[in-house]
Amino acid sequence: MQEKKSIHGSWASRWIFILAATGSAVGLGNIWKFPYITGENGGGAFVLVYLVCIALVGIPIMMAEIFVGRRARQSPVNAMAELAQESGHTKKWGLVGLMGMLTGVLILSFYSIVAGWVLQYITSTATGALNSITSDEAGALFSALLADPGTLLFWHSVFIVMVVIVVSAGVNAGLERATRIMMPALFVLLLVLLGYAMSTDGFEAGWHFMFDFDVSKLSWDAVLVALGHSFFTLSLGMGTIMAYGSYMPKRASIGSTVLTIGFLDTIVALIAGLAIFPIIFSNGMDPAAGPGLMFISLPVAFGQMAAGQFFGFLFFVLIGVAAWTSAISLLEPTVAYLVEKFEVSRTKATIGMGIVVWALGILCLGSFNFMSDVTFFGKNTFDALDYLTANIMLPLGGIFISIFAAWVVKQKFASDEINLSSETLFSVWRFILKFIAPVAVSIVFILNL
Ligand code: PFF
Ligand code: NA
Repeated sequence: MQEKKSIHGSWASRWIFILAATGSAVGLGNIWKFPYITGENGGGAFVLVYLVCIALVGIPIMMAEIFVGRRARQSPVNAMAELAQESGHTKKWGLVGLMGMLTGVLILSFYSIVAGWVLQYITSTATGALNSITSDEAGALFSALLADPGTLLFWHSVFIVMVVIVVSAGVNAGLERATRIMMPALFVLLLVLLGYAMSTDGFEAGWHFMFDFDVSKLSWDAVLVALGHSFFTLSLGMGTIMAYGSYMPKRASIGSTVLTIGFLDTIVALIAGLAIFPIIFSNGMDPAAGPGLMFISLPVAFGQMAAGQFFGFLFFVLIGVAAWTSAISLLEPTVAYLVEKFEVSRTKATIGMGIVVWALGILCLGSFNFMSDVTFFGKNTFDALDYLTANIMLPLGGIFISIFAAWVVKQKFASDEINLSSETLFSVWRFILKFIAPVAVSIVFILNL
């Protein structure tokens, strides 16, 4: 029988799929967000909950997304509608894909602002503007950037154009090449930074901060943030990995692929934390400084390091690329859907979505200046969108996807796709999706109300 293929293309090999999915997973979530939310939520206990969520909820749901996508070979909306129907259920399950599309658009609107900060810092390191900067100066520089809507808008626009260019070229072109070279380079640079962090006198404090488990620092809100971040960092709960899975070759094993991606994403986040916190502590900075944490700490470190300007420049370039490959994946489910549904060209669909995200992004960047007094539940637009998407919409999507994969779709479909080495493992996986993941996420939701 001829293998079913997606109309949008397919990855040449399992390895390319791993690259693309890792490109989606590894991004600002690891290097920017993970350290700053760890800092805000007290460190070790938060990190532990995050790791448990990755293993217990993230990995099984990633397997579910890939199998659904690969089975149906369509955008998430149509994939879920079709598999539901083939299993004798309502096509309304496609609505989960629709919610995912909305989530992706909302995430990209603030993600692009942070990516814009990175682009600004690439320029600043290139010109030497950050050379031998003190921690106070680094803080002042970052505040000045936030206060300047023109500059934020400029970089936000540049980044959206970069995303639109790659997405309109399609999943194969461009993306693979970027990921193959840049990911290993990013990893090496993180190790350089880690090496520097180990040489500072804040390393021990940083280590203890990240790995000493102190339950008293853990609130239910912190647990929700850790759970939400496990979805965010693995690109789960909105159909991104499902869309990428729909381009995955049939032969590739889903289980081992997912473990690889989960491992790479987690190790990058942990190293980023271990590189950043020692810098924070050895310079007497505040670990709970919020979204600016990376941007006020790293310049100081590069300022003290041999060849710091060079390393700093390279590092921000690589973070920019990591953000780019993630941002692309945020738009892919929506673009694939628009192409399927309205038979528009990929380019038109991408440009249309680019404009929407660009406009929404303006509201996010205004949070730091002309719209700073607009708040939702005490959060500015940027923080509110981050909180809503990562901590509510993604976990909610995750619950639906696990219920869908374990209760709705015929078991035969799952066992065809998920070739685990043992029956027992397969049953464990289904059990987690059926009960553990939805119940755990619901409990965390309820305890937060
Ligand atoms: N996983 C990305 C990161 O950690 O930066 C962000 C992201 C990409 C979230 C794609 C969700 C998504 F669908
Ligand atoms: Na990530």
